[in-house]
Amino acid sequence: MLSRRRLLSWFAASPAALAYQRSVSAPRGLRIQSVEVLVTNPDQEPMGNFVLVKIQTNEPGLYGWGDATCTGSELGVARFLEEHLAPALVGRNPLEIEHIWHTLFHLPYYRSGSVHMSALSGIDMALWDIKGKVAGLPVYELLGGKVRQELLTYRSVGGRDFSEVEDGVRRLMAEGYRVVKVQVLPPGLEAGYAVPSSERVQRETREAYQRGVPPRQVWETDPYVRTIPKLFEHLRKTVGEEIGLIHDVHERITPSEALVLAKALEPYRLFYFEDPLRPEHLDTFRLIRRQCSTPIAMGEAFTAPWEGHELITEHLIDYVRHDLAHVGGITMGKKIATLCEPYGILTAWHGPGNISPIAHMANCHVSLSVINFGIQEYAVGWGEAVREVFTAFPHYKDGVVTIGDAPGLGIDVNEAAARKRPYLRRFRPAVQRRDGTPWPY
Ligand code: CO
Repeated sequence: MLSRRRLLSWFAASPAALAYQRSVSAPRGLRIQSVEVLVTNPDQEPMGNFVLVKIQTNEPGLYGWGDATCTGSELGVARFLEEHLAPALVGRNPLEIEHIWHTLFHLPYYRSGSVHMSALSGIDMALWDIKGKVAGLPVYELLGGKVRQELLTYRSVGGRDFSEVEDGVRRLMAEGYRVVKVQVLPPGLEAGYAVPSSERVQRETREAYQRGVPPRQVWETDPYVRTIPKLFEHLRKTVGEEIGLIHDVHERITPSEALVLAKALEPYRLFYFEDPLRPEHLDTFRLIRRQCSTPIAMGEAFTAPWEGHELITEHLIDYVRHDLAHVGGITMGKKIATLCEPYGILTAWHGPGNISPIAHMANCHVSLSVINFGIQEYAVGWGEAVREVFTAFPHYKDGVVTIGDAPGLGIDVNEAAARKRPYLRRFRPAVQRRDGTPWPY
């Protein structure tokens, strides 16, 4: 055992000691000096705008970064941050995260929603980044420490037909993935969610972007609901039982169709069945639960702190998929995970390519530190321009992701590179039935 003297001399010289000294001395007088918002689209991709928040303190070199990206409302969030939240932050102690969170949540009175909650999420992440740097510790340490060393992850395959999906699944299995999300284009349709669209739809989409208007996409539910169970039957026969399979409905069917599909998929033992219903269809979640054992995942569309909490407290779902960049950041992610704990509900934080690597790092810090982790969605394969703007990424290998142990979130932004690639106006497709009815209604 180390003697007390040796322990003290070791401690006095260690980075931990320097961090400790900083943590007891810095907070006195530590203040937020400025809040800057940076909107960038490194890859100049249709869905690639990132809204980044930088909180600078009065201590030189001590700042934090957060992700406030909300695809479809990017400039709304940026303006909301600059005009309605940032001025209330200047002069405050950045270490008082819980206090600041609640102050900013109630500040506008008309609260919640995608714009407010994305803005608050970005601030929350930046504050945790600062707190980690002050403590000299990665954020996962402040959240209770690592429960595991690596995070199970999955990747998506979208195909025009079953054999294309099968080929994609085999490729990912060879890369080490143990779980894959599978989507297929239903017969007779030219576009769908997370599947390749026809050349005609691709051309029309390009033309719509050039004119600066939303592209139109035709969708029918019936061919989709008939096709998906056949896809799973095909995959279980060809790729076997070992691989975990996820499917995402993306809220594109009616409540009764969701019930039919959840039951039809039961024999194929999905890893989970994602977003079968819109958040407001609580009654149908109850019906699905009573009638089948298909595991359900839900949450990426929630934009209020406790939205959908009945799904958890009535144990109507198996995985929470909240987007930590839309629901209140790391603070809210940790609370949601804790609420799920007694029900055995696991986390599967939303991690698509249209939130920035800062939010992906935040996801990983929470996922590493909660006992009821399930899986972490992670957008492997960032383009070169994204890699120029951000200094760190979760590291992917053999079906799992890991992050480093740098203090804070462990990611910085090359602001000059970000400014060279500005905001790009793009719309998500306007989905309609063949008769022109907007869908979903
Ligand atoms: Co989804």
